[in-house]
Parts: sequence; C-alpha cells; structure tokens
Amino acid sequence: MWAWANTVSIVLKQVKLFFWLFSQGMIRITSKLPRVGTTIFTTMSALAAEVGAINLSQGFPDYDCAPELTDLVNKAMKDGHNQYAPMAGLMSLREQISIKFEKLYGAHYNPDTEITVTAGGTQGIFTAICAAIQPNDEVIVFEPAYDSYAPAIKVMGGVVKSLELSPPDYRIPWDMVRRLISNRTKMIILNSPQNPSATILQQNDIDELCSIVKNQDILILSDEVYEHLIYDNQTHESMARYEELRKRSFIVASFGKLFHTTGWKVGYCVAPAELMTEFRKVHQFLVFSVNSPMQYAIAEYLKDENTYLSLASFFQQKRDHFREGMAQTRFQLLPCAGSYFQSVTYSNISDEKDVDMALRITKEFGVASIPTSAFYTKGTDHHVLRFCFAKRQETLDEAVNKLMKI
Ligand SMILES: Cc1ncc(COP(=O)(O)O)c(C=O)c1O
Repeated sequence: MWAWANTVSIVLKQVKLFFWLFSQGMIRITSKLPRVGTTIFTTMSALAAEVGAINLSQGFPDYDCAPELTDLVNKAMKDGHNQYAPMAGLMSLREQISIKFEKLYGAHYNPDTEITVTAGGTQGIFTAICAAIQPNDEVIVFEPAYDSYAPAIKVMGGVVKSLELSPPDYRIPWDMVRRLISNRTKMIILNSPQNPSATILQQNDIDELCSIVKNQDILILSDEVYEHLIYDNQTHESMARYEELRKRSFIVASFGKLFHTTGWKVGYCVAPAELMTEFRKVHQFLVFSVNSPMQYAIAEYLKDENTYLSLASFFQQKRDHFREGMAQTRFQLLPCAGSYFQSVTYSNISDEKDVDMALRITKEFGVASIPTSAFYTKGTDHHVLRFCFAKRQETLDEAVNKLMKI
C-alpha cells in the first residue's frame, strides 16, 4: 500500500513538474528511474531526528571506529598522501586484500589485475552491474533486497527478475530459480549475510547454485559486505571458495561495515581478470580513484588479522544482548545468523501495515526501525520490522525499555 501510494505520489509530482517546466519554457529530462523517490531510510532517519527517537533504522554504528585507524589516517595526511591514488587503488591495500582472500578462502586474486578499491560497496555493486549488463539482460534478485540493486539494473536497461523470499527463514527456493532462468539471464545477485533478513547461504545453497550456473553464461554479483558478521561459529560461504562460482563472480565488500567507518565510503571488488578489466573500464570514468589517506591507513590496519577476525564475537555479543532484551517485549524475534540486523514480527500486537507500525512506534514510543516491505519491489508486507543492533549497549537498552511499553 505504501509502495503503491508512494508511486502514485511520485507520478503526480512528475506530471506537475512537467507542466510547470512546460509553462516556464524549460528543458525537460525523462527520468530513467521514474518510480524512485525519497526512500523509507531517509524518511525514518528524518522522523527519528524530528521526534528525538532512538534511531535503530539505518545500518550504521553509533560508536566510533578504533583510534589507531584514525591515527593512521592522520599520519597518512601529514605524510603528504593527499593526491590521487592509482585508479585501481593503492597497491599496498590491494596486496592486503589479496592476502586476506588467500588466508580466509584459499582463493588467489592477483592484486595487479583482479582487485579494485571502490568508493564503498554501493559503487562496487553499481560498477559491476554497469560493466556487465546490456539492455534486456535479465538479472535475478532475491527479495527482500538491498535497495541499490534494482535501480542499477534498470539504469542499464536490464530487466529485474525478482524472487520473493518469506519469513521466518527466507530460504531460496532453488526449483523456482531454475524456472526463472532463461537464455536472457545474465546475472544472479546474492547477498550473504543478507540485509535485511539476516540469513546466510548454506552449503546446500552453494551446491544448488553451482549446478544451476555450470556450463551457463551466467555471472554472479556477490554482495559480501557483512562477511565477518556471522554468528554461532558458522562459515561464510564466499563465492571465492568455489571455483565454479569464483570464475564468474564479482565479489563486493565494504570497509565501512568492516571497521565501523560507513562515512568513509571505501570498499573493494574482486573478480577474475577478464571480468575485472571490464569493471575497471567503468570504474575509471565513474570515480577514477578513491581517497588516498584512508587507503594508506586501511592497508596498514589490515595487516593485523584480529581487526576483522574479532568482529564476529563483537557483534554476536550485541546480537545476543539485543535479542535477550527484545525477548521481554511483545515482539517475536526472527532468526539472526549474520549481519547487524534483527527482524521481528508483530502480528500478535497489531494488524497495521508495517510502514504505519514503524511510523507509529517512532512517534509514540521513540524507537525508529525499518519496515521490511521497503525491501520488496511490490511492497510485500509480512508485518516484519528491522532493527539495527550496531549500537552502544546503552542505546540498545534504552530502545528495549521503550519497546517494552508496547
Ligand atoms: C547489503 C548491503 N550491500 C551494500 C551496502 C553498501 O555498503 P557501503 O556503505 O560500503 O556502500 C550496504 C549498506 O548498508 C548493504 O547493507
């Protein structure tokens, strides 16, 4: 309903704009993304700020990154590393990324030809889609999905083939994936650990995926920005682990998620050389290169593997603490195997639409969340809200205290 009302309001605004521009004798632009308006993320964060609510909506920490890391950035700046970095990224950083893949997944990526530093995960995603998708190519997207995939596909003239997954488990029905595959299928987008459902790919998903893509000209875009936020000693099934998948995958990652520095917008993409060549052709005209001082700092910081290996236990503690607190509310917890999102259902509390529920809780009880219908193209509403637990313990406790009043 919200998605439909939002679309109608956007179309009306565009019609009004058209007539206004026409009356002013001004030049008109035909939108490539006519249905894209203000996102629910912006709406919820703005509302949280307006009413002074605790903001558990958007995915970013409310605590600072390690002081060692900011010291390293300061040092890089003072040492004069303030000019353009190489187009593909600083070699010392690419070398560290390569070492990390070798160590964790036994996969070799050549820093010279197969790794590119990007302005965050989002730019890596956009660039991979832009490099690979031709008009009318079909891309399979599992929903609920991170909101940048579909617009990037559409801007390139591609066709989004979405497959909706449902709570509580959000498992991928591989028989339906097989039915969706056509001779126009160019790419499958995967995201594990997944935002917003907090699910992870399991070994049987990997087996199914391998058998589907084998001998097919299908690429994979694997969004692994939450690769280290995985709990209960489970394994991150990176595409890099499996040759059948590795050889056709763009893998995207984010230092923002890794080091609590979402505002720095630094990430990377790895892919086999022939894919990376095309990726870089777009990258060099989209951003050319990513800011230098952060790259120097991260290259140094990454040398200590504990900086990323300690993340799972750091976030698992937060997850467990938040879940314990939320278990005292009337919300029902969905499983959380990875990422820093905890979803809940509220069917026993209200039959309101999830958008209405999220708005009301923000205004009346002072905690902002994201209604997960926002992650479905059709606005499918399973009465699920997503909370981000990448917050200080005091913030999480305060939020739980407020939510207990519902
Ligand atoms: C699933 C997913 N992919 C990619 C990104 C983007 O990462 P970055 O902030 O590095 O662009 C996010 C950020 O929230 C995300 O949740």
